[in-house]
Amino acid sequence: MAKKVILAYSGGLDTSVAVKWLKEKGFDVICYLADVGQGQNFQVAKKRAKAAGASKMIIGNLKKEFVEEFIWPSLKANAAYESKYFLATAISRPLIAKKLVEVAHKEGAKFVAHGCTGKGNDQVRFEVSVGALDSELEVIAPVREWNLPTREAEMRYAKLHKIPVDVTKKKPYSIDKNLWGVSIESGELEDPWLEPKESAYQMTKPVGKSPNKPCYLRICFQKGIPKKINGKSLDGIKLINKLNEIGGKYSVGRSDLIEDRLVGIKSRELYEAPAANILLEAHKALEGLVLDRETLYFKEIVALRYSRLIYDGLWYTPLKEAIDRFVDYTQGFVEGAVNVKLLKGNISVVGRKSPNSLYKKELATYGKGDKFDQSLAKGFIELWGLPYKKH
Ligand code: ARG
Repeated sequence: MAKKVILAYSGGLDTSVAVKWLKEKGFDVICYLADVGQGQNFQVAKKRAKAAGASKMIIGNLKKEFVEEFIWPSLKANAAYESKYFLATAISRPLIAKKLVEVAHKEGAKFVAHGCTGKGNDQVRFEVSVGALDSELEVIAPVREWNLPTREAEMRYAKLHKIPVDVTKKKPYSIDKNLWGVSIESGELEDPWLEPKESAYQMTKPVGKSPNKPCYLRICFQKGIPKKINGKSLDGIKLINKLNEIGGKYSVGRSDLIEDRLVGIKSRELYEAPAANILLEAHKALEGLVLDRETLYFKEIVALRYSRLIYDGLWYTPLKEAIDRFVDYTQGFVEGAVNVKLLKGNISVVGRKSPNSLYKKELATYGKGDKFDQSLAKGFIELWGLPYKKH
């Protein structure tokens, strides 16, 4: 009996070729396609996997789990790598890895495989996650092993083995999409000096074609999680989809980043994440109202560390768990509403309120009803500045 391997299948060229390549190596290939909200045609993918030689194709609807176990924790921590990347691709990997492991157990497979190259972060995320969940499983990375150095070589291989692939037009970019955003790289984007073409963007309209009038959104949070938009309760998937749609129309959530990969190289990636960008801005604004200064500042340090941990593939680690506990404690206070204004690629927070607000008008006001005792300031400044007088 052939050895079974569970392959993380995307429906694209790399993983379709990988099916055949693994088969040639003597494996019985079971494809696992994760639905993390990328909005692809699964029937086409299924056909392609079968045609490439897969014995079975499993499609996992992971959207709810993705939102609740991966997206919300990143939002609560305000995770953004190198300030601009909300980690959409990075947080999907540990979830897919977990499913590969589960399916491997169910199918009695000793091997799992992915279609990542040897130059990226995703190979690290998959393999470190699989290893942390089941150290007995062996991971195969066909793209790292086979001798098909270019897309053309892969196309020739596909043609030779009658794997149906999109030959219609040359794909100008490599794109990875899910609910939390889209990552776009390679092709002409590899020149960091070159402005991306409008056609590179997948989710957002050009600023010039976005509406001239602003859009106002009221987002309500409970325990740091967004629950309502403009008074309407929405489940996480719908809420994120809605913000992606509106944000995309107003051209918000784009970024163009030269980022530092884990494997030591710098690369250029475009990101579009309208919902993530809007939600992080709103969430941070609400935290600014309800958290005391020291907790806020410490949380900023934690956000930085947490983003790196996600980027670096360290999801299933004690540090991740420990940071989650800290963040969750702080989120107990993060309740209330934020008014956000979208206009021409900009997101502005224009109002916030909370039952846990630490903002006290009677202390802040320069008008009537001031309760702040200004006479205390003199002594405070005297002691605060004392060390420097001596110095
Ligand atoms: N650079 C991003 C990361 O490492 C995205 C990687 C996938 N990008 C892509 N266009 N296929 O998380």
